[in-house]
Amino acid sequence: MKFFIIFSIVLFLLYFYTGWKFIIPNSYSISANIGFCLIFLMLYLLPIATFFMRINRVENQYSDYFTWISYLSLGIFSILFFIFIAIDIITILTKIAPIKQNFNPQRKVFLGLSVKTILAGFGGIFSIYGIINGLRIPEIITKKISFKKLPSALKNFKIAHITDLHVGSQIKAEMVQSVVDKINSINPDIVVFTGDAADGSVENYGREMEPLRNIKSKYGNYFVTGNHEYYSDLKGWLDKLSEVGFQILINQSQLLEVGNSSLLVTGIPDRTAKYYVKSHKTDIKKALKGYEDSDFKLLLAHQPKDIEHAIKFGYELQLSGHTHGGQYIPFNFFVSLAHPFLKGLHEKDGTQIYINQGTGFWGPSIRIGTVPEITEIILS
Ligand SMILES: [Fe+2]
Repeated sequence: MKFFIIFSIVLFLLYFYTGWKFIIPNSYSISANIGFCLIFLMLYLLPIATFFMRINRVENQYSDYFTWISYLSLGIFSILFFIFIAIDIITILTKIAPIKQNFNPQRKVFLGLSVKTILAGFGGIFSIYGIINGLRIPEIITKKISFKKLPSALKNFKIAHITDLHVGSQIKAEMVQSVVDKINSINPDIVVFTGDAADGSVENYGREMEPLRNIKSKYGNYFVTGNHEYYSDLKGWLDKLSEVGFQILINQSQLLEVGNSSLLVTGIPDRTAKYYVKSHKTDIKKALKGYEDSDFKLLLAHQPKDIEHAIKFGYELQLSGHTHGGQYIPFNFFVSLAHPFLKGLHEKDGTQIYINQGTGFWGPSIRIGTVPEITEIILS
């Protein structure tokens, strides 16, 4: 309830401010302004209604359409919100700054309005670009990662990494099949899926996950939970993922014999899982027990923050997701404040970490400054 109240207030401020900025500079008639207010109120209520539908498991074709409209309007409003904020900051600064006021006042008002209109137009173009970018089929990003002491048998070992697929009301089997086709096109040795597989119930969206059973890999497919697994049907989705060919690693490891070398794949649950399921509290010590001397240790963890464990227990590589790379500007800035790494390859205290930007998306189907990603990782 506390979350819902905060969510409603933040959303109200966002819609009110953006709507107000849209109406104020234009001299529409009173009846037109009332009409606009009603439209903005309705748009504000859409995400709230979507939230209620989700928690009450209203999941059908119509609720899916509703979700699309709701999230898209929220995405566009959030972009416009930040543009209007930027305009206001610039306006305030120009008023404070000691600029010579020798402009004709009428010309000044006209220029001010033109700049605002142009920037708002940019917001619209940005949104359209973001929607097209967000909805395209994920692209394969190839990353060769070098290690000082990689056993020769593991040279060119290929990992296909997907994450944050968010199958459900917006991401359907057709998209999942495209992901599978791309994975199979690179002939991976293993496939890893670092959480946030789905939203909603297996009963209504389980069939959308079916194409995953067509994945082909030499040494198996592995899955660890993300935070979203704990928001809906945890057991149902884990059963479904097992059924379509993924081995679920919850504080567990799988040792792979590759030639004369050993590669350990350890999976830990999302770091917030302990608040929902006691037995899903991160316990890497338990997962690693007996495998400490493996030639190469790979950690699968949904959130980049878990690198603290990877470093502590001597893992060579960690693969994560969760951040979506920020998904779209300017959220990448806020997401980067909350996480040590936003996307791509990083190194910390001898452990390397790669963060996939997300194979699917969550919320508004918008991506600006990020791409939907399938990572092809080659050890070298
Ligand atoms: Fe997540």
